[in-house]
Amino acid sequence: MGAELLLTIESSCDETAAAVIDRGRNIRSSVVASQTDLHARFGGVVPEIASRAHLARMLPVIDEALSQAGVTLQDMSGIAVVTQPGLVGSLLVGLTAAKTLAVVLNVPLISVNHLEAHIYACRMAAGRDIFPALGLIVSGGHSALYDCRNCLNFQLLGSTIDDAAGEAFDKVAKILQLPYPGGPSVEQAAQKGNPSAINFPRPLLDDARRLDFSFSGLKTAVLYAARGIPGSRVPALPLTQTRVADIAASFQEAVVDVLVEKCRQALQQCHHSRLCVGGGVAANFRLRQRLDELAEETGTELLLAPRELCTDNAAMAGIAWEAFERGHTATLDLDVCPLPVRR
Ligand code: KG4
Ligand code: ZN
Repeated sequence: MGAELLLTIESSCDETAAAVIDRGRNIRSSVVASQTDLHARFGGVVPEIASRAHLARMLPVIDEALSQAGVTLQDMSGIAVVTQPGLVGSLLVGLTAAKTLAVVLNVPLISVNHLEAHIYACRMAAGRDIFPALGLIVSGGHSALYDCRNCLNFQLLGSTIDDAAGEAFDKVAKILQLPYPGGPSVEQAAQKGNPSAINFPRPLLDDARRLDFSFSGLKTAVLYAARGIPGSRVPALPLTQTRVADIAASFQEAVVDVLVEKCRQALQQCHHSRLCVGGGVAANFRLRQRLDELAEETGTELLLAPRELCTDNAAMAGIAWEAFERGHTATLDLDVCPLPVRR
């Protein structure tokens, strides 16, 4: 069967990515073309611009992934592609490329769920099986806790009822007039701020049985702290650099408190001794630090995706090997799905 390699493709949002992954889950190459510069002036991802950029970049990115791995298309045992959830037009570019390659090369096509792949980034980095485990995904579009019973069975325990954690970071960055992308710039501003300066709300923490998140009220509280409460006679403090840093640090601390406490509640409920965390927000240093502390306190094994595998990439789509090894391949009528529906 040759080298036993999968080409994996990811284009669910604003990153065009391809990787070559071997059966041992080793990342032979991983290439990510970010579109940050294209969306920066709009302060968020513009779907039409994203899909057009995927179209222009998909083949060069695949070529680069093959060349970095020192292999050719003919060495591939299968083509894996992220088909859900995400932006429809963006997902379609990846799926069309993957289907075409699968047909031309006469190899199987494998469908990958982006959220499951975010958790699997921890497995890729660990280099060994890590399931069963509690899984936390914190990204721009999703915040969710999963009971990962095995590598193919992730049961949703709870998710955000409004904004995702990353979305809250992005919106707070806009309120504080910090540069795009929001998450890293709020984190940077927070480094010089006082996390106790403002006591922002920590939503849904009082109900330990409910493993959902809500970040929209917190974002509004940040808006009021920055601009004043509508109708109030008390003006907001001027948005000096210090005030921005204090708001950023207090906001970050509130988000981190909620994420860490919900993990604690979920660990108690599911009796898992492992916690794996992935998604763009998992790159946040303060979150990583606090999760470390939680793991220490609760005797949990913490598997944090390495920072380069937190934000969108195709290496995490190495989860395709799990399906492929069990013969779960897709037919050519495979379609994309914008919503996080599970298999
Ligand atoms: O997983 P990802 O690359 O894309 C989605 O699947 O959504 O996550 C992107 C999100 C963005 O909202 C971004 O602001 C956030 O992750 N993010 C961060 C950091 N780096 C990226 N949030 C907080 N701190 C960071 N260092
Ligand atoms: Zn993602």
